[in-house]
Amino acid sequence: MKPKVLVTRKIQERPLALLKEQAEVTINLENRAMLFDEIIAQLPGKVGLLAAGADPLSAKLLEAGKDLKIVANNAVGFNNIDMAAATHLKIAATNTPEVLTDTTADLTFALLLGVARRIGEAERFVRAGKWVGWHPDLLLGGDVHHKILGIIGLGRIGSAVAKRALGFSMEIVYNDIRKIEPGLIDILRAQFRPLKDLLAQSDFVTLHVPLTPETTHLISRNELRLMKKTAFLINASRGPVVDEKALVEALQGGNIAGAGLDVFEHEPRVTPELLTMENVVIVPHIGSATSATREKMSTVAVNNILAVLRGEVPPNILNPEIYAK
Ligand code: DGY
Repeated sequence: MKPKVLVTRKIQERPLALLKEQAEVTINLENRAMLFDEIIAQLPGKVGLLAAGADPLSAKLLEAGKDLKIVANNAVGFNNIDMAAATHLKIAATNTPEVLTDTTADLTFALLLGVARRIGEAERFVRAGKWVGWHPDLLLGGDVHHKILGIIGLGRIGSAVAKRALGFSMEIVYNDIRKIEPGLIDILRAQFRPLKDLLAQSDFVTLHVPLTPETTHLISRNELRLMKKTAFLINASRGPVVDEKALVEALQGGNIAGAGLDVFEHEPRVTPELLTMENVVIVPHIGSATSATREKMSTVAVNNILAVLRGEVPPNILNPEIYAK
């Protein structure tokens, strides 16, 4: 008998077939997330859980997985997993780093360009039939090239954003609580700044930190006040890194020039005021959403599960301490 695995959201055919070679798979093929209780009801007997990044894998849920050996998150972020509970229960938790780095950096840059050059607003303008011809002041935006890009979190995705920024002749300043390898700093020609200096100097501030208690509301009223009135905030990390209420106030008060947002504090709800603002580009958490990248992510998640089924430490283990003797 094959070990049983629950997959909470549709994955691509190839990784699914790979998983099915070694496991009896129950997969949710409905076009909606499984409810918390539905996942719990399915967990008995399941050795693996391939979860979506939006599934709340709380202690209660993990405890219901009496046979669970691995939760493979189909996302690089893993703030949805109660890691303390997973570790306590000796359940391996894994994520999907690397494979989505460039795709998420591309989307970050699309937000940056989109908000600076008013792409969404311009498209709405044309589609509404308002374009009557060339006008010297029509939809004037801000330049991107040669501007200062402030990157908060110079990890994999932050660095990939910096590489793109070099192509636009941007000057890069960064803030990170970790020490960044000097070789990388040289390649990116990035200069460290204390957070308040980065906020005050940057023309674009882009966030690439994981969501932790320390980064929750990292950007709130005081931080937004430090930004230039002409600056833009870009967030393709996690919604709660920004205090959305404070962001609305900053945008309404003209404290900053605009925002490009892929993530929101209470997804899928977006603070209604943001929806009415022309200087805010809004997309629905699609940072990693290309066909190729999503397939790679699912393949990474499946390979983590297969490793556990073989009795190995999964390649993307987040809590290696569960294997300590
Ligand atoms: C990730 O991988 O963390 C993306 O945000 C998708 O959830």
